[in-house]
Amino acid sequence: MSAPSPMEISLQNPQDKEIPDQNGVIAVDSAPSPSLPHDKVLVSVEVSLKPSSTARIDDVRSAVERMLEKRSLSYTDGPVPVPPDDQFLTENVQRICICDTDEWVQNHEILLFWQVKPVVHVFQLSEEGACEDVSGDGQPSTFNEWILPAKEFDGMWESLIYESGLKQRLLRYAASALLFTEKGVNPFLVSWNRIVLLHGPPGTGKTSLCKALAQKLSIRFNSRYPQCQLIEVNAHSLFSKWFSESGKLVAKLFQKIQEMVEEENNLVFVLIDEVESLAAARKAALSGSEPSDSIRVVNALLTQLDKLKSAPNVIILTTSNITAAIDIAFVDRADIKAYVGPPTLQARYEILRSCLQELIRTGILSNFEDCESLMLPNYGSLKEKLNMPEVQDARTLHMCKLLLETAEACEGLSGRSLRKLPFLGHAALASPYGCDPSKFLSTMIDTARRERSELPD
Ligand SMILES: Nc1ncnc2c1ncn2[C@@H]1O[C@H](COP(=O)(O)OP(=O)(O)OP(=O)(O)O)[C@@H](O)[C@H]1O
Ligand SMILES: [Mg+2]
Repeated sequence: MSAPSPMEISLQNPQDKEIPDQNGVIAVDSAPSPSLPHDKVLVSVEVSLKPSSTARIDDVRSAVERMLEKRSLSYTDGPVPVPPDDQFLTENVQRICICDTDEWVQNHEILLFWQVKPVVHVFQLSEEGACEDVSGDGQPSTFNEWILPAKEFDGMWESLIYESGLKQRLLRYAASALLFTEKGVNPFLVSWNRIVLLHGPPGTGKTSLCKALAQKLSIRFNSRYPQCQLIEVNAHSLFSKWFSESGKLVAKLFQKIQEMVEEENNLVFVLIDEVESLAAARKAALSGSEPSDSIRVVNALLTQLDKLKSAPNVIILTTSNITAAIDIAFVDRADIKAYVGPPTLQARYEILRSCLQELIRTGILSNFEDCESLMLPNYGSLKEKLNMPEVQDARTLHMCKLLLETAEACEGLSGRSLRKLPFLGHAALASPYGCDPSKFLSTMIDTARRERSELPD
């Protein structure tokens, strides 16, 4: 792999970082941080409107700001209940969520309300779903399109678990790029672009992370860009057997994107998955094993992308399974290159914990009689719990140990395999109903070992 450029972000040196649990609870200590700046810390508060709501965004924003002021909250990531006595909010708001405080909160400290300036983002999810480009002549579609923020990507960002603040850094890089454009920074004096490349082994969540990032940015930037779209280019389909048509397909696709981009209130995300397929097609064409049309298609695509790059309201998201340098012109110029690796022990524990809690929520696994007791601690507070076994509930402690053991047994499995493991584990059970969680985890350990033994060397 080539030496990382200064902008390269990588998961190779994970720093220990607290991952909040599903309810946003992170272990806290009430003393204010001495390292906090004197001026207030900006904290994002995301407010999702009900599908039926027709309230004005500004009205909801003001109502939420007033509510936050009144409640004198301390700020940790996670949901804030909508006050039942506030009729306007209960009628219009589905969910209020505090985000990204873990960036500021260090050493288990808490952000108190007077240290915070909440930045409220109000949005309504689009329920339209993916709109395919249907050519009607039997050709595979060349792209999918979503209006963002889309219902189907809701919760995706939160479900992706990485360490060392990868998600936050991606968000910040993209936000800086949009801000530089917005403020009209002269690109001859300070150069930057809006190309993101996520690379790493299969199943590590690269495609999902691109979609989730687009969704997040559409929420965070909705006051500047009230309309956002995500176009997922199906690179494979551009190299189908209808090569003579491919040139036309590329032209049609980019004409559409260009039209979207011309509307300055639109923010357009273009996702090109598995960009290495472009490089491979070009190489094959040069060696004569592919029709020469294919080189024209790749070149046309690259030229179009190059052109698109100069538009201020476009972010190009790309992924690749090849971790070595990809021989492709525009990816070289990607500002934001991030290596996305297989989940570490901490991430594996958190992924499995979220799976387990979902199976308990849906009743597939039986809970203890007093439901409260099976709130499994997050990885951060796990160490503490294991160190003080005498003050813990014995059943919870046993579950924590088993969960940790399962996470250890899953070393080397991708995030994709991990999310499938509970299903495989369940299918291996003798009795599928109301299974005891600890028995289930023991089965999962066996399933994980089997999955690992089937991994290619
Ligand atoms: N770190 C992770 N945390 C949580 N879920 C993960 C993680 N990595 C992968 N997943 C899950 O794995 C599934 C597959 O992810 P995705 O398709 O985005 O991976 P990918 O890296 O694009 O794979 P490929 O290289 O094969 O295209 C997703 O449903 C995602 O939820
Ligand atoms: Mg992918």
